[in-house]
Amino acid sequence: MISVKNITKKFGRGNSSLLALDDVSFSVQDGEFLVILGQSGSGKSTILNLIGCIDSPTSGTIIVDDVDVTKMSDKQLCVYRNKNIGYVFQSFYLEPTFSVLENVAMPMTIAGVNKKEREAKAMKVIESLNLTEKANKKASELSGGQKQRVSIARALVSDPDIILADEPTGNLDSQNGGEVIALLQQICNSGKTVLLVTHNIDDARKTDIMVEIKDGIISNIIENDEKTKIAAQHSSDYDNEGNLIDKNKVEEDSKLENINNNEKIDKVGE
Ligand SMILES: Nc1ncnc2c1ncn2[C@@H]1O[C@H](COP(=O)(O)OP(=O)(O)OP(=O)(O)O)[C@@H](O)[C@H]1O
Ligand SMILES: [Mg+2]
Repeated sequence: MISVKNITKKFGRGNSSLLALDDVSFSVQDGEFLVILGQSGSGKSTILNLIGCIDSPTSGTIIVDDVDVTKMSDKQLCVYRNKNIGYVFQSFYLEPTFSVLENVAMPMTIAGVNKKEREAKAMKVIESLNLTEKANKKASELSGGQKQRVSIARALVSDPDIILADEPTGNLDSQNGGEVIALLQQICNSGKTVLLVTHNIDDARKTDIMVEIKDGIISNIIENDEKTKIAAQHSSDYDNEGNLIDKNKVEEDSKLENINNNEKIDKVGE
């Protein structure tokens, strides 16, 4: 379980300081799929970076399985991150001249695992994500959707308990984006905890919990029930930008259009 308690994060000092997170608290159980939603600059990546131990909070605690990660030394954090956290980014951050196999094996190269073992483990994950025939291709030769699958493979290779995905569909078209969300759902079903940042409400409704954030403050925490998740599979409920269509408003608009059309007909008839 990840428990974020009364987290604040201030960037800078004095008059030019900025309170990016203000008393943020929420928790996510093992094996749950949580999404963080909010406008640009609201603090979504900042939260993910704190949970991923890339950055540390100004105050507050983050407890992961009874351990307060905010109290760890740099050395402990390094080991913790490598073992427990898999990160997926909007712009993939693959090494373009390296092969898919080398990219996926990278976290183990950094951890000092020998070549034979890291390649065998990387190959296993590559196969499980249906990327076998791309294993020896350079990362730069892949499509966006394939690149994101490779970066998910890299996040999975050390078998971490937590996957953090910061707008993983941001650079993808809707079909590839949908496939990435479905893959994250599968990863979650396999027992891992997944935290996703997205702007897309259609994707957000497929998760277990939605945390909405505005200007560094949590404005809403919504538990998605099965009905909501099933509804989210029907894109007809959403407009082209993935926003939930307000059915009452659509009815009002079409009534208004009928009235206007009737007025036009009346005028032609006059
Ligand atoms: N290293 C930093 N130094 C100073 N300010 C920062 C730093 N990182 C983030 N901020 C500020 O903190 C606030 C929250 O930033 P954050 O990156 O978390 O937003 P976000 O919700 O992820 O936005 P986006 O959707 O655009 O990625 C913003 O006002 C941002 O300018
Ligand atoms: Mg961000």
